[in-house]
Amino acid sequence: MKQLQVELKEKSYPIYIGSGLLQEKELLVKHIKSRQVIVVTNTTVGTIYLNSVLKHLDGFQVEVIELPDGEQFKTLEYVTKIFDKLLESKFNRSATLIALGGGVIGDMGGFAAACYQRGIPFIQIPTTVLAQVDSSVGGKTGVNHALGKNMIGAFYQPQCVLADMDVLNTLDDRQLIAGIAEIIKYGLIRDLVLFEWLENNMSLLLQRDSNALAYVIERSCANKAEIVAEDEFESGIRAILNLGHTFGHAIETGMGYGKYLHGEAVAIGIGFASDLSKRMGWLSKEEVDRIIALLKSAKLPVVPPKEMAVEQYIDLMAVDKKNIDGKIRLILLESIGKATLPVSVEQSLLEQTLRSYAG
Ligand code: NAD
Ligand code: GLY
Repeated sequence: MKQLQVELKEKSYPIYIGSGLLQEKELLVKHIKSRQVIVVTNTTVGTIYLNSVLKHLDGFQVEVIELPDGEQFKTLEYVTKIFDKLLESKFNRSATLIALGGGVIGDMGGFAAACYQRGIPFIQIPTTVLAQVDSSVGGKTGVNHALGKNMIGAFYQPQCVLADMDVLNTLDDRQLIAGIAEIIKYGLIRDLVLFEWLENNMSLLLQRDSNALAYVIERSCANKAEIVAEDEFESGIRAILNLGHTFGHAIETGMGYGKYLHGEAVAIGIGFASDLSKRMGWLSKEEVDRIIALLKSAKLPVVPPKEMAVEQYIDLMAVDKKNIDGKIRLILLESIGKATLPVSVEQSLLEQTLRSYAG
C-alpha cells in the first residue's frame, strides 16, 4: 500500500492507494469516530461493493442509501434524500458518512456531509479511475444545476481517501478511458514526465496493467495533493486543475448530463484549450498535434458534438466559477507541462477556436 498525505494543517488527511484495501477493516474503522455511520452509494456500485464495506461495520449503527446511478441524478433533489435518511435515523453531528462510488457519489456524499448539521465527518471510497485520481481528493463537493455544472457546492475535506485498485476490475472500458483524461490533464498542466510516460505507455494502461495503473494513480494523487495543499480554496494555482473543463462543462450541460462522460467532455475541452493556446502564440502546431495524438491513443473523443453551436458554448461558458464580472476566463497552456493561471481571451479568438470545431 502507498500512503500520500494532503497537507492542510488540522484538516490534513491520508490517501491510501493499493490492492485489497477494502478487505482491511482497520484502515476504514480507525477513521470512524462514533457509532453512527451512513454509507452513500448507487445501485450499481452498491450491488458489487456494499457488502465489502458493511462487513467491517458490525457493532456500528449503520444506515445505507443507494441513489440511482447517473450524472443526471447529481442534483439537490437527490442530496435531499440523504438528508431525509440522516434525519429519519436521528443521526447527529458525530455521525460519519462514507461515500462509496465514482465522482458523482463522492461529490454528492461530500456535499451532504458538508451541509448536514453544518458538517459531519466523511470518508471517500472512490471506485472509478476518475474518482481515484481526481474527484475524491481535495474537498470539492457539490451538485449540478440545470443551468450549470457543479454550480452548487462546498469545499469540504474528507477524513481519508481509500482507493482500492481492485475495484477497477469491474469498471467498463469507457469509464476507464474517461478517467485517463484527467491523468493526461496532470501531465499537461504541471508534469511533463507523466505526459511523456503516457505517450510511451498508453497501451499498458488500456490493458489495465496493475503497475501502470498504480503509477498513474499515485502520481496523479501526488500532483493533486500538492496543488490542494498550496491553494485549498482555489484563489490561485488550484484553478489549473480546470484545464479543458470550461469547454467540457459546457458540453456536459449543453448535451444533457450523462450524454458525455465527464472525462470525455474534458478531453474535447483539452482539444479546444490547446487550439486556443496555439492561437495565443504559446503552443506550436507540433505540440497541439502531440496532445491530440495522446488523447486519441487513449481512445478519448477529440471532436466536439455537432449539435452544439458557437453561441451555445459562449452562453454556457459565461456561467463558470472562474469568470470575473461576466468575463470568461480560461486555463490555457504555455507549453506541454505548464498551464497558465486563468486568462481572459479576446472573444473573437475564442470564437475562432469554437468555430473551427463546432457547428
Ligand atoms: P460516475 O460516478 O458516474 O461513475 C461512472 C460509472 O461507473 C457509474 O455508472 C458508476 O455506477 C459506475 N461505477 C463506479 N465504480 C464502479 C466499479 N468499481 N465497477 C463498476 N462500475 C462502477 O462518474 P465518474 O467519472 O467517477 O465521476 C464523474 C463526476 O465527478 C462528475 O460529476 C464530475 O463533475 C465529478 N468530478 C469532481 C471532481 C472534484 O474535484 N470533486 C473532479 C473531477 C470530476
Ligand atoms: N477537479 C478540480 C479541483 O479539484 O480543483
